[in-house]
Amino acid sequence: MINLSSSNVHSLSKHSNFSNIICSGCNTVHQYDEIQNVCKDPSCQEALLACYDFVLGLSKDVLKNRPFTMWRYREFLPVLDPKNIVSLGEGGTPLFKAKNLSKIVGIPELYWKDEAGNPTGSFKARGMSAAVSKAKELGIKKMAIPTAGNAGVALAAYGVRAGMEVHVFMPKETPAQHKKEVEFYGAHLTEVDGNIGDCGKLVAELSPKNGWFNVSTLKEPYRLEGKKTMGYELAEQLNWELPDVILYPTGGGTGLIGFWKAFEELEQIGWIGSKRPRLIAVQSANCDSIVSAFHNSEPKAVAVDKGFTIANGLRVPKSYADKLILKILKYTKGTAISINDEEISQALSEVARLEGMFIAPEGAALWAAVKRLKLEGIVQESEKVVLVNTGSGYKYTENIFK
Ligand SMILES: Cc1ncc(COP(=O)(O)O)c(C=O)c1O
Ligand SMILES: [Zn+2]
Repeated sequence: MINLSSSNVHSLSKHSNFSNIICSGCNTVHQYDEIQNVCKDPSCQEALLACYDFVLGLSKDVLKNRPFTMWRYREFLPVLDPKNIVSLGEGGTPLFKAKNLSKIVGIPELYWKDEAGNPTGSFKARGMSAAVSKAKELGIKKMAIPTAGNAGVALAAYGVRAGMEVHVFMPKETPAQHKKEVEFYGAHLTEVDGNIGDCGKLVAELSPKNGWFNVSTLKEPYRLEGKKTMGYELAEQLNWELPDVILYPTGGGTGLIGFWKAFEELEQIGWIGSKRPRLIAVQSANCDSIVSAFHNSEPKAVAVDKGFTIANGLRVPKSYADKLILKILKYTKGTAISINDEEISQALSEVARLEGMFIAPEGAALWAAVKRLKLEGIVQESEKVVLVNTGSGYKYTENIFK
């Protein structure tokens, strides 16, 4: 896998130990104090990964007395000056037993990491808190994003909080709640007759002309940094003993890459050992390019888009970081599975009726997935399994109450 360790070692911990940026494709080092999107080598252009100095003997005690938000891991977040942090209290989400579902599926140690309580109702808040904070530190004033919904809402909220101009490009089919909320924050919304890929093309074309910074998934390095805090937090909540399996709803794949990156960094600083959970990418059957590539042992994905899914966040024909996602699934001995809309609808209803949780369709897909994986013997009764519910059902009522 990619070596994230920085060559620098020092004994004094700073606010942030952010030290450089490497390319996930060719390992080229990029300047950490300049505005970056993707690898500068035109023949590469892969996603960039932030790296941190290793601090000798940094104790977990540094976390004591810090508020339970994602910024408690500030040494491993990219903002150098705390005055640039743009926060709405993101992170610090609960981890709890899936009490009733665990009995049905026969996995006593089945947990929810529930991201629904984040500001703006999804885990996207973590990514946008990091990205907007770093953008502020670098002097960026205008941002643009192609989005399936939640990320656009989060950018609108964090962007306006930082006094920035925000431009959001969303597929027309996105639930109205997402669109209305973006406008309510005062951001500019463009509805696009197409999927998130079509929105991405528009943003790529318009950004240079308008002086917008393009915050597309994995086309800037810092949303990933915010999302990786789900991994830090999960490790801390489990007393630094990682679970056996993590299921994650995979669209662009930032969250999945984030878990991998968090665990690599935590091992590097000596807070966890070498054990890794098997990471399982769960996709919509209508957009399952990672599932196909993984099971065909391909190093990269080919775009798949069979149309609408009630899990809007999973309508991503091809992730920009497909190669990295596929490497991570292999490295962690994980797998990938697709779930169709009928299964997602049924799962939503079961999670509501049995667990009392009104979750995002993306999160519900994990419940359908774990049931199938258990039947197939891929996930065992004795294992500790975490389902990451990435968002709230409140944004999707028109998809859910059909
Ligand atoms: C609720 C929800 N879950 C999961 C995803 C997929 O996110 P990722 O890019 O981390 O794969 C999205 C993306 O829009 C989302 O909104
Ligand atoms: Zn490169």
